[in-house]
Amino acid sequence: MALVNENYLKLPGNYLFSEIARRVNEFSTANPDATIIRMGIGDVTRPLPDAVIQSLHKAVDEMSQAETFKGYGPEQGYQFLVNKIIENDLNPRGLNIQNDEVFVSDGSKSDTGNIGDILSVKNKVAVTDPVYPVYVDTNAMAGRAGDFLEKTGKWSDILYIPCTADNNFIPALPAQKPDIIYLCYPNNPTGTTLKKEQLKVWVDYALSNKCLILFDAAYEAYISESDVPHSIYEIEGAKKVAIEFRSFSKTAGFTGTRCAYTIIPKELEAYTEKGEKVQLNKLWNRRHTTKFNGVPYIIQRAAEAVYSEEGKIQVSELVNYYMTNAKIIRESLLNMGFEIYGGINAPYIWLKTPNNMPSWDFFDLLLQKAHVVGTPGVGFGPSGEGYFRLTAFGKKEATLEAMDRLKTLFNK
Ligand code: MLT
Repeated sequence: MALVNENYLKLPGNYLFSEIARRVNEFSTANPDATIIRMGIGDVTRPLPDAVIQSLHKAVDEMSQAETFKGYGPEQGYQFLVNKIIENDLNPRGLNIQNDEVFVSDGSKSDTGNIGDILSVKNKVAVTDPVYPVYVDTNAMAGRAGDFLEKTGKWSDILYIPCTADNNFIPALPAQKPDIIYLCYPNNPTGTTLKKEQLKVWVDYALSNKCLILFDAAYEAYISESDVPHSIYEIEGAKKVAIEFRSFSKTAGFTGTRCAYTIIPKELEAYTEKGEKVQLNKLWNRRHTTKFNGVPYIIQRAAEAVYSEEGKIQVSELVNYYMTNAKIIRESLLNMGFEIYGGINAPYIWLKTPNNMPSWDFFDLLLQKAHVVGTPGVGFGPSGEGYFRLTAFGKKEATLEAMDRLKTLFNK
């Protein structure tokens, strides 16, 4: 008799963005004439930079010739890409990361989910709340989250660290000691950041308590303020306690192209139950080589082009485009009298719903009356209730149009 992983049966409903898509489809079927503006899922809308396209074409041509054709590549990524990552993203910040500490993959969503494979199910997990749902759901699938409690919207075994306007979105150290801590900065969904000294508090805590920090830096390219760290390894001692996830998705428009990388320093160790130290880099390498056959050659050539002279200019144009949208959203919402956060170092704007309206009610209101889709804050965790997320990844004209519709709706 084949038994299922019953942890899956404990998962509530749909994955957040699938649920939003379901509701939007239902609405558009019933209202075929409505022009819906999608500001829900953080998916990019600009085409790939030209340098990336040129490189892709060239790589495709190479695949057509016996002399240059590529079969399996190194699971950890081709050195031409790893070298460029280190030379451009990491070492200019003084991080001194080695080639065998970088693992190229098909996405940070996969890596932040899969990293649990090399960690015991006995670990106590802490997340900031609201949180990117993948961290919680994948721990639930692994049996690390306990039971889902409908009443509180929390999993019984997960430690939730509230981040709301009340604490200025700065997570406080937890009262109970976790083993694994997920941090995402610039933050998805709130768009807020931690300054160096605020992130240092967490690194120091992890060092003294033998915790592991899983640091998601997928939105690093959107940082505009100089005192916001781009990498957790800018903090002394972080290589002993943190894994960092980076992605080309939001940086260079790769959401549909799929390429990311994860940094696991060799000095990072976790423990067996007997207290023996184990290098996580070795374990991840074992997992990666067994379960993953590498990102396609043509995609890695495309990612490499992000670091060419033209590529860098085009990527910064992309980031500027989306951050102009963020500014439009921020300013329009402020003029309408909304309380808003984020949108300065991140492409997400986190707004307080009027009169504490429940997030899903606000979602329905915007969808039905303005045909604008956003993401209900509570979908990211209980502390997201009464908040709502808008993304700046849309087209500029659509973003302007959405703001006009909201102005009309809220009569401002
Ligand atoms: C989001 O909307 O939060 C992102 O698209 C999630 C992701 O990158 O998977």
